[in-house]
Amino acid sequence: MSVKDQADRLRQLVVDDREEVSAENHYRSVCVISGKGGVGKTSLSVNLALALAISGQRVLVVDMDIGMGNVEAVIGVYAKATMADVLNGQDPRYCVQQTPFSVDFIAGGNALLNVDQKKEQMNEALQAMERLFSSYHYVLFDLGAGVSDRFVPIVTSVDELIGVTIPEPPALTDLYGALKWVHYQDPLIPLKLVVNKAATKKKGYRQPNEFQKLQNVSCIQTFII
Ligand SMILES: Nc1ncnc2c1ncn2[C@@H]1O[C@H](COP(=O)(O)OP(=O)(O)O)[C@@H](O)[C@H]1O
Ligand SMILES: [Mg+2]
Repeated sequence: MSVKDQADRLRQLVVDDREEVSAENHYRSVCVISGKGGVGKTSLSVNLALALAISGQRVLVVDMDIGMGNVEAVIGVYAKATMADVLNGQDPRYCVQQTPFSVDFIAGGNALLNVDQKKEQMNEALQAMERLFSSYHYVLFDLGAGVSDRFVPIVTSVDELIGVTIPEPPALTDLYGALKWVHYQDPLIPLKLVVNKAATKKKGYRQPNEFQKLQNVSCIQTFII
């Protein structure tokens, strides 16, 4: 598959309502989650951001895998500040890192020391970032593996959620569990599903039968390894 085809498929994940977004002059927020680590959340978040940037959108990636973030490493640009600084009260505008690829990001950092990331702190941080977010067309949150109470303010505030899995039973069942948790937090949040690292496209599409039962799943996309 050509690079252009893959970029088109990435953009299809989120651009459906773009006209509506620009009309409202409001950014579109997307949260990428998984049950297991290593399934491709960060790869998807960064590549989706790049695909959107290439089509002229202003994009911010927020690495919410605090203390073990990889967005910085995948983009390959050193970040002078991280999400931990935002959680500790630093002005979010000074924690944004620009890149030569027209994608901005806030790094997750690689130290868990001295960071309180309970639900309340997350809520405060999101409120503090609201003004920053509104200067972008898209804000993509790359979450750490699994779900927990601290992510509630994010999953309940975003416009849509992309669940990433690989076509193996432990990853599929853990993502299913994570999406059920999301459904419990907000039964109306639109969900999209990515089956990454599938051996063939057909195999990727065959896996997620269970997910069809979740009423808000609107799109299933497979990426081949
Ligand atoms: N479609 C793919 N094909 C090949 N390698 C992939 C693919 N998606 C992800 N990877 C690789 O798998 C590893 C884990 O991906 P990553 O995006 O860091 O996962 P996560 O953020 O879910 O922990 C990385 O080495 C990444 O380069
Ligand atoms: Mg990651």
